Amino acid sequence: MLTGKHILLIIGGGIAAFKSLDLIRRLRERGASVTPVLTRAGEEFVTPLSVSALAGQKVYRDLFDLTDEAEMGHIQLSRVADLVVVAPATADLIAKMAGGLANDLASTVLLATDTPVLVAPAMNVRMWQHPATQRNLTTLSQDDVSVVGPNDGDMACGEFGPGRMAEPLEIVAAIEARVADGPLSGKRLIVTSGPTHEPIDPVRYIANRSSGAQGTAIARALAAQGAEVVFVTGPADVPPPGGVEVIRVQTAREMQAAVEAALPADAAVFAAAVADWRVEGASSRKLKKSKDGLPRLEFAENPDILRQVAQMKKGRPGLVIGFAAETDDVVENATAKRARKGCDWIVANDVSEASGVMGGAENTVVIIDDSGTESWPTLSKSDVARRLAERIAAALG
Ligand code: C5P
Repeated sequence: MLTGKHILLIIGGGIAAFKSLDLIRRLRERGASVTPVLTRAGEEFVTPLSVSALAGQKVYRDLFDLTDEAEMGHIQLSRVADLVVVAPATADLIAKMAGGLANDLASTVLLATDTPVLVAPAMNVRMWQHPATQRNLTTLSQDDVSVVGPNDGDMACGEFGPGRMAEPLEIVAAIEARVADGPLSGKRLIVTSGPTHEPIDPVRYIANRSSGAQGTAIARALAAQGAEVVFVTGPADVPPPGGVEVIRVQTAREMQAAVEAALPADAAVFAAAVADWRVEGASSRKLKKSKDGLPRLEFAENPDILRQVAQMKKGRPGLVIGFAAETDDVVENATAKRARKGCDWIVANDVSEASGVMGGAENTVVIIDDSGTESWPTLSKSDVARRLAERIAAALG
């Protein structure tokens, strides 16, 4: 719920602006108040009247509107909210934010604000993929701006790919993650997710089939319960959630360093599928075919991050949760793993090919803790994540 929360919603100029009307409705249904700001370009797509009618408030449009300055100056406007949301965030608005430009009401508010900002990008695929846009997004994430979406799909311009604005309910979830006072507010959690890539040479690597979907859903669910989440992710197939601190890594050793740097934490969830081995002395040059025979790869063992954190003598998180992806004897193997690693809970699942878990939308898990085993029915990965987040909240009490 967003009861009592105040959202300043900046609507940029893109066809996705029509979805922002629904977003206003969804936010108000959840108890939030919405102060809308409409850019000039935004007015080409939705009318000020429909925006203010849905928001139940005046829509702010002009930097030099003297009535507005008398009622509420642009500086004050930028300070009243719990969160500033830009949806749709066009390539132009994102570039202005990254460059610190302030030449209209929306960009001035964004430069003047001292509250957190969430953007929901929406643009043509090529514009999204352009190095300039990607560079600007990196700058925004360094400035602690959260990003939700964009999604892949058919676009109004007839092309296909990333660039569609996230759906209103996805934006609502990212907003809740950023502002909600949930049972986990004030708690800091680390979540690892995705596979790791262990280089063989500059172009080849060893990896596994983890999509990162379950770990991403867990980070999203924890943030939605109000937790401060540090999300340490390997190269996953799914984009990271909004409202969390994202640390991208490639290898197990980078993941270990990122987790160490993120400590201390109240709890840590190790959902990453970390490669057990890396290639010892990976080549700095591309290995070539040779008449002298096949290359010989020597392996070295990667650090076991879960085990290391679970067995910390000082500064161990109060709750350490591991995953056990098993193809047979799930409960037996997972129970042994829990003892071996020294973690508090193990979330065990069957990843045999027949289960369809890898890359799929559903998961069937068993939670193993001090008091025994708890089997959950087959659920969507986001429902597994929600239940797990609730269980964590209850344990951290
Ligand atoms: O040993 P195994 O890989 O089966 O254990 C799985 C659990 O251990 C997962 O929670 C995984 O994130 C964690 N793990 C880790 N570091 C490793 C290997 C596994 O954190 N090097």
